[in-house]
Amino acid sequence: MFFTGKVLGIETSCDETSAAIVEGKSVLSNVVASQIEMHEKWGGVVPEAAARAHIESMLPVIQEALDRANIKCPDAIAITNRPGLVGALSVGVSAAKALATGWNIPIIAVHHLEGHLFSIWGDPASEILYPHLALIVSGGHTELVDVVAPCQYKILAETRDDAAGEAFDKGARLLGLGYPGGKAIQDAAESGNPSRYDLPIALSNDPTSFSFSGLKTAMKNLVSSETNLNVADAAASLQEAIVQPLVSKTISALQDRAALALVGGVAANRLLRARLAQECKRLGCEFYVPPIDLCTDNAAMIALAGSARLAKGEFSDFTFDAQPNAPLP
Ligand code: KG4
Ligand code: ZN
Repeated sequence: MFFTGKVLGIETSCDETSAAIVEGKSVLSNVVASQIEMHEKWGGVVPEAAARAHIESMLPVIQEALDRANIKCPDAIAITNRPGLVGALSVGVSAAKALATGWNIPIIAVHHLEGHLFSIWGDPASEILYPHLALIVSGGHTELVDVVAPCQYKILAETRDDAAGEAFDKGARLLGLGYPGGKAIQDAAESGNPSRYDLPIALSNDPTSFSFSGLKTAMKNLVSSETNLNVADAAASLQEAIVQPLVSKTISALQDRAALALVGGVAANRLLRARLAQECKRLGCEFYVPPIDLCTDNAAMIALAGSARLAKGEFSDFTFDAQPNAPLP
């Protein structure tokens, strides 16, 4: 299922500059240079600043990934070229094309979400069953995908507006908890009461769509109307209002499938992981989640996805470019 040689993965679609080496399904190195500190002061990702920071970190991060894996030259390169911030993506794409030309090795362009779908292979103990259902929850995407076979997908449901991660981030900003918001909301929610504030669960009867934009408005109203707002209770209520529809729609889409995967940055959320694990146990269904460090953006997942495509005999010519929007292949 995976390419036999060593694959260098490169990821620069948003605010992490990452390079990794995988061999088969083993992750030999995974280096992530995060720009969070820089974007924190603006309360979100500034695309131009992200691209500049990728330029600074790109070559040192690749060198470190090679050094940690103890290799001089990989056998192939997998590069995220879509979707994402086009300036940020272009930095990785240019570096990958230059290195593939210099080393004279094949290159494969990878869809960022396909990378997330392969992140579950990053758990060394895992043997993944296909077909399975996957819930992708990140800062930019919320999708339920039928993973028919490796690299073969059918989208079953998606968000009509904001992504689940965006709902965490916007909520955290309103509560003054900083950026990125997911982990901050999770930590603040730990001591909070999730039923203290009544927040809307949108489209609860529609199995094919998610919607999170109403939550932002509800949080705004809550913050401006409550004079004595309890931040822990508000964080717990928000987390509950995001997790609840994710779990209920995922479980109803599961039907008779034998396995479920939870991937993307929001897959790091303890409550979401625990609820889905509990439901899968109840239904006798396998449950796959990546290790925490492979939930948020990283190049190991890109290398794994690229390696699976290379093993099928696919590779890219040098005409591909960075694309801001693109459906799953
Ligand atoms: O996959 P990712 O790193 O980037 C995108 O492809 O968008 O996801 C980032 C998102 C952010 O919105 C962040 O707040 C969220 O993942 N996130 C979390 C947690 N850790 C990261 N959301 C909830 N709970 C967490 N523990
Ligand atoms: Zn991502």
